[in-house]
Amino acid sequence: MPDTLRLPGRLTAPSPGWTTRADVVIVGSGIAGLTAALRLRGSVDRILVVTKDVLNAGSTQWAQGGIAAALGPGDTPEQHEADTLVAGAGACDLDAVRVLVNEGPEAVRELIALGTNFDHTDDGELSLTREGGHHRDRIAHAGGDATGAEIQRALIAAIEAAPDIEVIQHALAVDLLLGEDAAGTTGVAGLTLHVIGEGERDGVGAVHCRAVVLASGGLGQVFSQTTNPSVSTGDGMALALRAGATLRDLEFVQFHPTVMYLGPDSRGQQPLISEAVRGEGAFLVDDDGTRIMEGVHELADLAPRDVVAKAIMKRMLETGRPHMWLDARHLGAEFWERRFPTILATARSHGIDPVTELIPVAPACHYASGGVRTDLYGRTDLPGLYATGEVACSGVHGANRLASNSLLEGLVFSRRIAEVLPGELPAWREPSADRRTAGLVAGDIRRELQETMTSRSGVLRSAPGLAEGAAVLDKLAGHAAEAVDQASWEATNLLTISAALAGAAALREETRGSHWRDDFPERDDAHWAGHFDVTMDDGVTTVAFVPAPATDGGLG
Ligand code: SIN
Repeated sequence: MPDTLRLPGRLTAPSPGWTTRADVVIVGSGIAGLTAALRLRGSVDRILVVTKDVLNAGSTQWAQGGIAAALGPGDTPEQHEADTLVAGAGACDLDAVRVLVNEGPEAVRELIALGTNFDHTDDGELSLTREGGHHRDRIAHAGGDATGAEIQRALIAAIEAAPDIEVIQHALAVDLLLGEDAAGTTGVAGLTLHVIGEGERDGVGAVHCRAVVLASGGLGQVFSQTTNPSVSTGDGMALALRAGATLRDLEFVQFHPTVMYLGPDSRGQQPLISEAVRGEGAFLVDDDGTRIMEGVHELADLAPRDVVAKAIMKRMLETGRPHMWLDARHLGAEFWERRFPTILATARSHGIDPVTELIPVAPACHYASGGVRTDLYGRTDLPGLYATGEVACSGVHGANRLASNSLLEGLVFSRRIAEVLPGELPAWREPSADRRTAGLVAGDIRRELQETMTSRSGVLRSAPGLAEGAAVLDKLAGHAAEAVDQASWEATNLLTISAALAGAAALREETRGSHWRDDFPERDDAHWAGHFDVTMDDGVTTVAFVPAPATDGGLG
């Protein structure tokens, strides 16, 4: 990060034109947010869910593969733990992983009890499949490849049947309000929201509350091509950072190996071709039809995601081609229609028929393994602020998330937040005068920012590229917004997160998991076993290394 880079300490916004109160505000309405709301119900008086768009606009809806848990015959949480640790390349938190794999099966059973219709075999057993990095069939799925949509449907139905949970849609979380308690400790006093078209609550308002649960998803829109929806602009991470919470492991951004390539000018959300397609036997080939993953890893096309993404990128660089190919023709029309109806329809809508044609694929940003640092109960280091799901860094993913562990993380850690939060709900804090320096960058920096992050902090990184990227971020930070609007708020959040991510990526001089350095091609436990933590004080960002022993026994 350049020494000169100064970011807004808070977002410029009009003074709140309306106020409301809730005991707990949950920001986000995917699996993490809605699970937290439903589980807190009955233990907390007033719960308010706020979501940036409509309830199902976030990443959960788009999840294809499924949700991993040791539910099948012969599978155990220990085996799920081992696969998670290997994928995480030594950077997972062992205690967090144990929580995930041990509480996962029960949490999935609860999701079923809530009304989620997972797919079953002809014998009536839960149908479990395999994805990259898993040595067992342990991925539960729904509607073939529409798992997230089905989970989201079931959760929304449950929320709609709970009239005591208040929901405000079209509500962008702008910044946290901070205040001191009787002991003089600074913590959450509420948050400001910008709401569009929701009756009396219109424009910027303030919600006073005792705790905020961030479940606002990831940062995929930092990059030009991503599987994430347009709402994933890192808002939750950015507002937490500005308020004094710590971000961890931001450099570990997962690039999904098989995202459908739509041409050089395609931007924004791109179609995902689920890893489950390879789980069912599809394989990667280059232009000559040579299999890419043979001999690269013992699991071949089902190697952990970072290994496959790197192999594809290497072949793309060697051949100068903008994509490789996924061959799934042998699965046949009937299987495609039954098992992957969504992917089939999407591919056909883009002019490719996977039953008879190869699918062009290239890696694209998919998932933030890092985020707002939490403990095993979703607590951040800012009193009253909790985080769960992709916005959080609970430590379960390390340097590379294992396939289908993300829905599970949101589910498990939201349950844990609901377990402790009612008993430790902070006293009301009066919001104090905000002394952080307000600022806003122009919304139209977005495209240059994304292109810079993609080319300089994307799949393959190097010191010169990262330095060039940092200089562009520095320049973009100087483009002050002329209008105070959603485009500028999002651009400022994207810039804030980009600076933190690129800063950590520049300092991690090794290759580990999804962080791939051209100039430091090996993993280096002697120097870099541990985490980069990012903090901010009134717009000035600090990146610090926190050593921790490698948790995969150095297997990576
Ligand atoms: C996929 O279906 O390949 C994505 C699943 C995941 O991100 O875990």
